[in-house]
Amino acid sequence: MTTGTDPLAEARRRVAAVYSPETFSRLAGAWGELLTAHLKSVTESRENVLNWNDPPVNIEAAGRFLDAGDPGEGLDLGRAEQRFRDLAGEALARGQNLHDPRYIGHQVPPPSPIAGLFDSLGTVTNQVMAVYEMGPWATAVERALIQRWGEAIGYRAGTFAGLITSGGSLANLTALLTARNVALEGCFETGVQAAHRPALVVQADAHYCIARSAGILGLGTDSIIKAPLDDQRRMDPGQLNLILRRLQDEGRKVIAVVACAGATPTGAFDPLEPIADICERRDVWMHVDAAHGGGTAFSERHWHLLRGADRADSVICDAHKMLFTPALCAFVFYKNREHRFDAFRQTAPYLFDPSNPGAAEYDCGLMTIECTKRAAAYGLWGLWSLCGASLFGDLVDVTFAMTRELHDMLRAADDFEPLHEPQSNILVFRHLPERLRSADLDVLGNFNREVRRRLIHSGRFYITQTPLNGGGAMRCTLMNPLTGRRELQELLEAIREIGRATLGSFL
Ligand SMILES: Cc1ncc(COP(=O)(O)O)c(C=O)c1O
Repeated sequence: MTTGTDPLAEARRRVAAVYSPETFSRLAGAWGELLTAHLKSVTESRENVLNWNDPPVNIEAAGRFLDAGDPGEGLDLGRAEQRFRDLAGEALARGQNLHDPRYIGHQVPPPSPIAGLFDSLGTVTNQVMAVYEMGPWATAVERALIQRWGEAIGYRAGTFAGLITSGGSLANLTALLTARNVALEGCFETGVQAAHRPALVVQADAHYCIARSAGILGLGTDSIIKAPLDDQRRMDPGQLNLILRRLQDEGRKVIAVVACAGATPTGAFDPLEPIADICERRDVWMHVDAAHGGGTAFSERHWHLLRGADRADSVICDAHKMLFTPALCAFVFYKNREHRFDAFRQTAPYLFDPSNPGAAEYDCGLMTIECTKRAAAYGLWGLWSLCGASLFGDLVDVTFAMTRELHDMLRAADDFEPLHEPQSNILVFRHLPERLRSADLDVLGNFNREVRRRLIHSGRFYITQTPLNGGGAMRCTLMNPLTGRRELQELLEAIREIGRATLGSFL
């Protein structure tokens, strides 16, 4: 700090430099150049898929940038651009490259870069929501999308409602909170009582966030009853019916049945029509977790997988999975729009103006866990408006078809075993080298886990692992629509090669 100058004036000068449109324009130009080069290099598989470093190494490196970041006298445009390039370059070089066609990993897509551009409009201008007046366009975008995706699922226009929230886990929690409040009248105020003896009947492969919801909602994870699966890991409606009958005979309060449209481990779709018949007959709230499978609503080939979802009391879908938009953008739908305010039976008069009750309809904070909520749907709205909803059908069709090809390749190979028929774009399999054919499932599972770990650390491919049928296995989610036959053949070769190098410690 120089003596004789007003420190506050100096602070203002430094702040102004950070907010200057000229600074933004310079850095945005560099941003566009860097990202374009990165996307080109990554989609051509010229980088590692995952840039692996042990966590402490990365944390140390990130911290070094922070500690070197204060030049004292504020932002100098010339130096800032170079430093911005260094920082952005470092972030890109150390990340997970989802746009590489050899990324065949978690249920997280490489978002369409175009959606990323639209998303940044909301980010840079901070179009947050809770009340309509803080994010009028963000609210409009959200409502317009809810109407259209809800109708694509099969809900009738004007009769259903929805909201967007920060991820599938929060979406499931919100829908199940509504189901709990409806099942246990007054419990938002008084809490769940032991006398309620609640039960939550869930697909046995349901995502862990469902059990977590039971814990958060005061139902307790012990209230979960797992509905058995058939040989394709879909909920068995006959078994479901027996479970519900027993619970109701015992006087238990069934909060909801949670079915899956795209269950996490294998991408299985439950038979929603017979499940809906049973829930209607037994007067139980039906919830469908379509975080993964909700995108099939846009595919002529695969929409039938969601048949019956329109009879569910609530459905959740993640746009940041099969609609290929940046995270997080999750939708909750209520079949009956009367339930839209049932999750949170509260008012916050300083936010929601009581003199204008009609406005509450558009103040999304009344329906969501978030108060300040980012404009999560700009990316989806922009992409949809630019390309049409048929793009989402194409993305589903292409990724599902490649998964079928992978299945065929695995079946044709002596040293691989697919563990199920693919119902979507998730496939679990094991590598079975001849010398491990008669090994225990434990040994085989650990071998598969070790090969996968070495594979992803090598940067050559990114795939995941899961336990299935009593042992560890490898799992691919074909989330990159650019992955083709060539990458899948190379994947099997890479697994074989690493398998040979790993085998010694398992014999
Ligand atoms: C079926 C299912 N439900 C919920 C979730 C959780 O979604 P999110 O990661 O958006 O919280 C996942 C995540 O993979 C999932 O597969």
